[in-house]
Amino acid sequence: MAIANRVEAFVGSKEDAGSKIMRHAAILSGQLQQLRTRMYPPTAQKALRPFLTNEVSKLTSIPDSTLKLLSTEGRGPVPSRLENNHRVYTLAQINELRELFAKQKPSDALRFLPRRGAGEHLQVVAIANFKGGSAKTTTCVHLSHYLALHGYRVLVLDLDPQASLSAMFGAQPELDVGSNETIYAALRYDEAERRPIRDIIRKTYFDGIDLIPGNLEVMEYEHETPRVLAIKSSSGAIFFERLKLALSEVETDYDVVILDTPPSLGFLTLSAIYAATSMIITVHPAMLDVASMNQFLLMMGDLISVLNESGAQLDQDFIRYLVTRHDPNDAPQSQVVAMLRHLFGSDVLLPTAIESTAVEAAGLAKRSVYELEMGQIGRDTQKRAREAVDAVNEAIVRLINDSWGRT
Ligand SMILES: Nc1ncnc2c1ncn2[C@@H]1O[C@H](COP(=O)(O)OP(=O)(O)O)[C@@H](O)[C@H]1O
Ligand SMILES: [Mg+2]
Repeated sequence: MAIANRVEAFVGSKEDAGSKIMRHAAILSGQLQQLRTRMYPPTAQKALRPFLTNEVSKLTSIPDSTLKLLSTEGRGPVPSRLENNHRVYTLAQINELRELFAKQKPSDALRFLPRRGAGEHLQVVAIANFKGGSAKTTTCVHLSHYLALHGYRVLVLDLDPQASLSAMFGAQPELDVGSNETIYAALRYDEAERRPIRDIIRKTYFDGIDLIPGNLEVMEYEHETPRVLAIKSSSGAIFFERLKLALSEVETDYDVVILDTPPSLGFLTLSAIYAATSMIITVHPAMLDVASMNQFLLMMGDLISVLNESGAQLDQDFIRYLVTRHDPNDAPQSQVVAMLRHLFGSDVLLPTAIESTAVEAAGLAKRSVYELEMGQIGRDTQKRAREAVDAVNEAIVRLINDSWGRT
């Protein structure tokens, strides 16, 4: 028998490299899909947790005792009760409280309702860096949540074909975002198909935050733009002006627009930088990431000179570097941070986005640290993460308020 059979058995048992890799990919896909489904079921509807009075008090600067008094007197929004009888408010109710207090104390209205007023321009913040994993999307989510929790009106734009920002807001790119429903719809060059930006804006589960979702469709802009540039006969705005013009149509509806950019320096990112009134460049403090950021800055510098040649000027209120996924106990990271601070001084934000298992775990469940309920992650870990994220957001919001001339 034997030899032929044994050879066959041997050949049969030896898997070639191609099938092995494919088999491993299939096993891993299955496992990842299972994990994803467990962390965030495809049918999951996002909802924002309610807030305890002490948190409401911190967010609104309305004293705890005043909240209690309002509720016992039956004035203002009626809070729900938890099983332990503690009062909780939804974000919509928190915003009602803000309106109430702003109306009652007009001289102090800004403290309760910090929306921009006459003479304060729409702040468009681009979060950029073409290094993937530099926490651009996480920074966008945290900043938008912080702003909305403090009473600002926010629009977030997902310019990344990977659409992780949209997913964080519960718009799953493959399921919930159809064709001509991304920002591409408002930018496209064929007028018959183009849509007003207002028509593609969605409300989100997070009171005060609207979303323009992304998916692979936004790549069309990268393909179409060079084609149109080549023809040169195109009417209407040149490519980099289109986003800014589209945003101007909804200017009065928002205080802050946040642009999540893709990990590439294409026409969309350039449009974002042009539309932006300020920019946060996220950087993970590792030598490779800094080298990559250097490339990013060089290319951006080139592109900005191209803009300048065509008569366009960038006019930004502030540009800051934000150190992300920072482990302050890691010596090599500390060296990189020290170098950045030495080179760029106060252009590097003082607070850093500290690496935290709370941020990571929240991210897997498509949440921000603001959405975590107590007890989901170790209490101290969660508290530290929240404080670190707050510090970064406070610094950015201070810059925004400075740009409005508030002190
Ligand atoms: N401070 C942090 N601590 C721990 N993990 C983080 C932190 N910031 C971001 N991450 C994780 O790093 C990964 C990349 O972040 P992401 O925001 O998607 O980056 P980008 O948008 O630049 O590609 C995500 O899994 C995110 O949850
Ligand atoms: Mg991203």
